[in-house]
Amino acid sequence: MKKIVAILLTVCMMLSAAAALADTLTMGTNASFPPYEYYEDEKIVGIDAEVAAAIAEKLGMELKIEDMDFNAIIPAVQEGKIDFGMAGMTVTEERLQSVKFSETYATGVQVIIVKEDSPITSLDDLAAEGATWKVGVQNATTGDIYCTGDFGEERVEKYNVGADAVEALKTGKVDCVVIDNEPAKAFVEKNEGLKILDTTYAVEDYAIAVKMDNDELLEKINKALTELIEDGTVKAIIEKYIPAE
Ligand code: ARG
Repeated sequence: MKKIVAILLTVCMMLSAAAALADTLTMGTNASFPPYEYYEDEKIVGIDAEVAAAIAEKLGMELKIEDMDFNAIIPAVQEGKIDFGMAGMTVTEERLQSVKFSETYATGVQVIIVKEDSPITSLDDLAAEGATWKVGVQNATTGDIYCTGDFGEERVEKYNVGADAVEALKTGKVDCVVIDNEPAKAFVEKNEGLKILDTTYAVEDYAIAVKMDNDELLEKINKALTELIEDGTVKAIIEKYIPAE
């Protein structure tokens, strides 16, 4: 009798472990992008982490976040290593060839960070005929893609994370950094002697990337996200991390 109970218990435990496994929703991100995703001690926090947690909760699933290089996220989605990518990721035509995107939940603006005493005062200065200013970007981001297209490969220095590009600006290895406005604000706040130029390089929509053929998950995410936008949850999360000026 004892033996049967023990076996039954083991089977139950295995079943619930399997259920727990099946109920995990794995998000891939690049946690070097405050206030969307960054580390607070050992934990990944930020707007994306919280919106994803709210989506997972609605779906009755357990959220797991995996940190990886930004340019590894889309391949990981395509290979099914993660269920979705969420990383302040801009919807672009090119990315739409590889993944599907959810409804957008935030807007990003590509901006230019310079040293306070920089001779660069606008996008026109950067783009001027014969200009040789070097631009720092995070590898494979839209900032990288636009700058490489507009100024040429030889003027663009690609860094693994935005903070490294900012470090390069401080030490004079590059003359400016092109990155999304909210991380830009966070970096400028943290580092003395930097400022954001009052010019908008590009305005973009952030969305969640899902595997091309996984319409079932895409629909679930969209339903949850739409509800969270409509009931003000997404707005509240954004305002928690980006206090209104
Ligand atoms: N919005 C830009 C893009 O999609 C930059 C995103 C970078 N995100 C990150 N978590 N490092 O290319």
